Amino acid sequence: MPIHGLTPILLCFLVVWSIQMPVSSHPQHNRCRLIQRAALCNNAELSSVPLGLPNNIEELQLNHNHIQTLPDDSLHYPSLGTLSLAGNNLEKLESNTFQDSQLLQSLNLAENSLHIGYQETSHALMKLPGLRALDLSENKLEDNMASVLLQNLTSLEYLNLSKNLLLRLDESSFRDLIQLKELDLQRNMMFEIDGAFHSTPKLLRLNLAYNYLPCLTDFHMTQLVVLNASHNSIEWFISRQDLQDAFHLETLDLTDNRLLFFPFLPSRSHLRNLYLSHNSIRFYEHLADDAIFPNLTTSVQFYNLNSNVSNVTAQLWDDGLHGDISALEILDLRVNQVAYFPQGFIRKMPALSRLRMCTNCLETLNLTSEQLSGSLYELDVSNNRLKQIVADEGTLTVLGNLTYLNLSLNDLEWLPSRLFTSLPSLRSVDLSYSNIGICPTEAAEASRGNISACVVWKNMVSLRQLYLKGCRLARIPPSAFTGMFLTDLELSDNPGLIAEQSIRSLSRTLQHLGIGNTEIQEFDFSPFQRLKSLNISRNSLTHLPSSLLSLDIQLLDLRDNKLSTIPSSQANALAPKLRTVFLAGNPYNCCQLQWYWMFETTKTINMLGKSDISCQDVTKTTLRVEFLQSPLCGDESGESIFWYLLLFVPICLSFVGISIVFLLTFRPKLLQKSIKKKYLKPTSY
Ligand SMILES: *[C@@H]1O[C@H](CO)[C@@H](O)[C@H](O)[C@H]1NC(C)=O
Ligand SMILES: *[C@@H]1O[C@H](CO)[C@@H](O)[C@H](O)[C@H]1NC(C)=O
Ligand SMILES: *[C@@H]1O[C@H](CO)[C@@H](O)[C@H](O)[C@H]1NC(C)=O
Ligand SMILES: *[C@@H]1O[C@H](CO)[C@@H](O)[C@H](O)[C@H]1NC(C)=O
Ligand SMILES: *[C@@H]1O[C@H](CO)[C@@H](O)[C@H](O)[C@H]1NC(C)=O
Ligand SMILES: *[C@@H]1O[C@H](CO)[C@@H](O)[C@H](O)[C@H]1NC(C)=O
Ligand SMILES: *[C@@H]1O[C@H](CO)[C@@H](O)[C@H](O)[C@H]1NC(C)=O
Ligand SMILES: *[C@@H]1O[C@H](CO)[C@@H](O)[C@H](O)[C@H]1NC(C)=O
Ligand SMILES: *[C@@H]1O[C@H](CO)[C@@H](O)[C@H](O)[C@H]1NC(C)=O
Repeated sequence: MPIHGLTPILLCFLVVWSIQMPVSSHPQHNRCRLIQRAALCNNAELSSVPLGLPNNIEELQLNHNHIQTLPDDSLHYPSLGTLSLAGNNLEKLESNTFQDSQLLQSLNLAENSLHIGYQETSHALMKLPGLRALDLSENKLEDNMASVLLQNLTSLEYLNLSKNLLLRLDESSFRDLIQLKELDLQRNMMFEIDGAFHSTPKLLRLNLAYNYLPCLTDFHMTQLVVLNASHNSIEWFISRQDLQDAFHLETLDLTDNRLLFFPFLPSRSHLRNLYLSHNSIRFYEHLADDAIFPNLTTSVQFYNLNSNVSNVTAQLWDDGLHGDISALEILDLRVNQVAYFPQGFIRKMPALSRLRMCTNCLETLNLTSEQLSGSLYELDVSNNRLKQIVADEGTLTVLGNLTYLNLSLNDLEWLPSRLFTSLPSLRSVDLSYSNIGICPTEAAEASRGNISACVVWKNMVSLRQLYLKGCRLARIPPSAFTGMFLTDLELSDNPGLIAEQSIRSLSRTLQHLGIGNTEIQEFDFSPFQRLKSLNISRNSLTHLPSSLLSLDIQLLDLRDNKLSTIPSSQANALAPKLRTVFLAGNPYNCCQLQWYWMFETTKTINMLGKSDISCQDVTKTTLRVEFLQSPLCGDESGESIFWYLLLFVPICLSFVGISIVFLLTFRPKLLQKSIKKKYLKPTSY
């Protein structure tokens, strides 16, 4: 019988086998797709270049195969312009590989092992008169290997050497690359660059990110447009100050280094984007005074590996000499130690549109004296030590383009009471974690133009997002938000907040409301028909407000309340609309988890922090809901495993008892038998 059962399977095998045979014996080019003049043979388990492709192909992609070498006679495509061999474990190209492909312009050899056969490979590359783009990233190349591979590549315009083992660059590294425009050297281990770019006069974009460079001094690459030296250990950036030519530099990225000083930028440049976040930059104007500190040195000496000393003189203590920042549009100084702006510093940037100063040590901000430009779009001074912001009416009218303003996490106590209402383009304001309240309307009228410990929001028609977390707000005046069109309102972390009445006026526009940790009890959400995101976490709610069910809520944060269940009818109503939900931190009843299984099986719901959701069984034991395979208790009954245990234990005990009695009764006989067996002779007792 079992034989009969197997026969169909065997037949299947035979049929499949007979179909597969001819396919796999086809020539290898069947694994390629031809799209016009491109042959795409990626991920095809090829161990050599496939034969029989059309003679006139212009592009050949062989990424992620197992091609270890490219032998001399393997490419017969005279029109080939682009060849890609990334991720092949390729060890070498034989020296005449490209004999018949002289038009090749773009060659991708990323993610291979060319450190093994770099010498022979270099002979192959040399014979490509028109090679313009070469990707050698991730090939375990060391300094000498790279310079051998790059010999005579005089036509190269784009070169990628990222993720190799380069330590040091000098004159010999890129000697022949006279046409080079873009060079990517990120993620090597470079600690020194000495004259390596003397022979690349056309270089426009240079990426040195994620290396170990300690400084960039005597910078004089006037033609360079983008320099990325982020994520190194750079303490000094000093450009050559005596050059009269204008630098073409537009973007300089020095993020995540060890700068102590604002970089010494070229004295003439078109720098537009300056990224300096995550350094230790501060200004030292107070040290510039010769009368107080007469003998502070003003020149720095740098030594390199060949113990060449270079003297770089920079007016270290003179904040007036930071170079040309007149075209700057983005200045990113997040996470530094700036306590003040030197006099006139901000004024030098008439085109500034984004000023990011989050997490510094600013103590005052006098907008009137700084004279920020009218093009300012984003101002982030969050997480500083600001006590007060000063601005007169005239200053505020200049800032007509300011759209995003973040003042959160400061020690603010005073603001011009008309600060926000005077800024006509403002769309997003974050004033969280400051001591600023909302003025009762009458008080605001009285203190017009003065500084005040509260601000007016009423009638700000441009504002869409308002964040007032942790502002110690208690009762919000009833008309505080009238005449506004807010879509996002954050009022979380204001314990004892009474706001239901005052936010009614936003019911036609509000899409996100945050009232976590505000001690709310009851809340009627039904007027807020546009609400899509709601945070009511940390509020001791014992049940879900039923007014929520009619809304189109997609994101809901219910964490840390006192919910014991979500009734099935509510879960049913929410499940089709919810996209993201936070549920942990509630004392759910293990016997009433139908809602959980429902959310769990609804594919469109993302339960974030699912592993933290727990429930309590009848014995008050806390269990992780994730590990409960199915409801612990009967479908609706409140019974628990406890009762089953109570029943089960006596049965077990009686069974064990009976077994013992049984064993003891028959044991003597068993003993006798075994003794008899052992001595192999009959004994009589
Ligand atoms: C490569 O360049 C060297 C000099 O830099 C020259 O002597 C040699 O002939 C060149 N080789 C080829 C193949 O162009
Ligand atoms: C260079 O190669 C790396 C790794 O393959 C890649 O991430 C990077 O984007 C490339 N650089 C450029 C400028 O294309
Ligand atoms: C600089 O390079 C890093 C690493 O590749 C990248 O994350 C960053 O965006 C680059 N900076 C700029 C301004 O492009
Ligand atoms: C500073 O330099 C002057 C002259 O070079 C010298 O007389 C004086 O003692 C120095 N002061 C200090 C504090 O070293
Ligand atoms: C560098 O400056 C110091 C002090 O000014 C001087 O003694 C030294 O000779 C200078 N070295 C070079 C190479 O110019
Ligand atoms: C702010 O700057 C203006 C103009 O420089 C000045 O008149 C005013 O006194 C300053 N206010 C404060 C509080 O420093
Ligand atoms: C404000 O922004 C508009 C639109 O982006 C721009 O045309 C205008 O020049 C800006 N105003 C100032 C003073 O820069
Ligand atoms: C304001 O800045 C704080 C701290 O830097 C940040 O956490 C918050 O997300 C920012 N607010 C907005 C609306 O971007
Ligand atoms: C909801 O508000 C609480 C209290 O401020 C906060 O801790 C939590 O991160 C917020 N939830 C979401 C999803 O942002």
